[in-house]
Amino acid sequence: MSGTSLDGVDALLVDFAAEQPRIRAACHTPYPPELRAELLELSHASHPELHRLAQLDVMLGELYAAGVRRLLDEAGAAAADIRAIGSHGQTVRHHPHGPHPYTLQLGDPNIIAERTGITTVADFRRRDIAAGGQGAPLVPAFHAALFRHPDHARVILNLGGIANITVLPHQAQVPVTGFDTGPGNALLDGWSARHCGTPYDAAGRWAGGGTSSPRLLQRLLDEPYFALPPPKSTGRELFNLAWLDARLDGTETPQDVQATLLELTAASVARAVAEYAAGAREVLACGGGVYNSALMARLAVLLGPRALLSTAELGVDPQAVEAMAFAWLARETLAGRPGNLPAVTGAAHPVMLGGIYRGRL
Ligand SMILES: Nc1ncnc2c1ncn2[C@@H]1O[C@H](COP(=O)(O)OP(=O)(O)O)[C@@H](O)[C@H]1O
Ligand SMILES: [Mg+2]
Repeated sequence: MSGTSLDGVDALLVDFAAEQPRIRAACHTPYPPELRAELLELSHASHPELHRLAQLDVMLGELYAAGVRRLLDEAGAAAADIRAIGSHGQTVRHHPHGPHPYTLQLGDPNIIAERTGITTVADFRRRDIAAGGQGAPLVPAFHAALFRHPDHARVILNLGGIANITVLPHQAQVPVTGFDTGPGNALLDGWSARHCGTPYDAAGRWAGGGTSSPRLLQRLLDEPYFALPPPKSTGRELFNLAWLDARLDGTETPQDVQATLLELTAASVARAVAEYAAGAREVLACGGGVYNSALMARLAVLLGPRALLSTAELGVDPQAVEAMAFAWLARETLAGRPGNLPAVTGAAHPVMLGGIYRGRL
């Protein structure tokens, strides 16, 4: 327990077996002065970002709960029929490196469990980070459960804001690997929002009408992240428009930049597959980037002679794979099974992911 006086940590070993609680041991750890000063500073109301963060956490929790209720309405299902909700939350920071690695997802699971009455599993990533991992990607275990082929190696390519691959060897005893390859749609979306006012470049048509610049592409590919060996994960902290702006020389037309960004996603994915999944015979793509046909066409060329398919061709809606993965991870957690793959995240060992927020009693 740490109280408002900010004096430190009271640790207590209590035995409740008898009528009167019995203290078996007590241990007080005072806060180091620098930590106390920082905590005091942060507790002042003058930190608007912290207030915004806390409020967004609540607002997202309400929105997720409303989304679940609408879903149940549409499915004609009752809350009592649902074993659990797996809620990934919205990532606002991902810093898996340095002396105090962390990742932060918003969307208060207390609110989801309270509003829906359904047990909610959330905060999947932080236990993996606590075990020394990147906290990402977490979808590979699900990819393995769903898509492993008994006779040949496969790659699952998730084209979200960030792109990640899962390498599925056909031999069950060979560990599954995977990592974030770099930008997926995030830069394409950002650039198209800035120049066309659209949230994304539909079917990659705008990019498709431009010409990729080899010089700019090289400058973008010089980013050290691409050459880092896995385990590795990344996010908007690195791949954002400020990162791109710093690499433009001002002579490129916006449309050619978009074409180059498309090439960047395709080239970085192809490089990752060539380096870490050379033996794979097919690449199954999922995530919203599957609907960017210009991107898929470039990927098909660069990944060749491997076949590039959408998971739709295996009967799984590509836009649903990630959400399905977190429903599956929630199931694993409730069953007491680990959900991370140490060979993917770099964690010291498998861990059960997420906190469990019980529904109605
Ligand atoms: N018709 C389309 N044309 C091009 N891109 C699309 C299309 N539909 C979806 N997308 C892309 O997919 C993204 C959403 O993909 P999603 O898998 O949900 O990403 P995330 O997991 O990062 O939320 C959009 O931001 C957009 O870039
Ligand atoms: Mg999405």
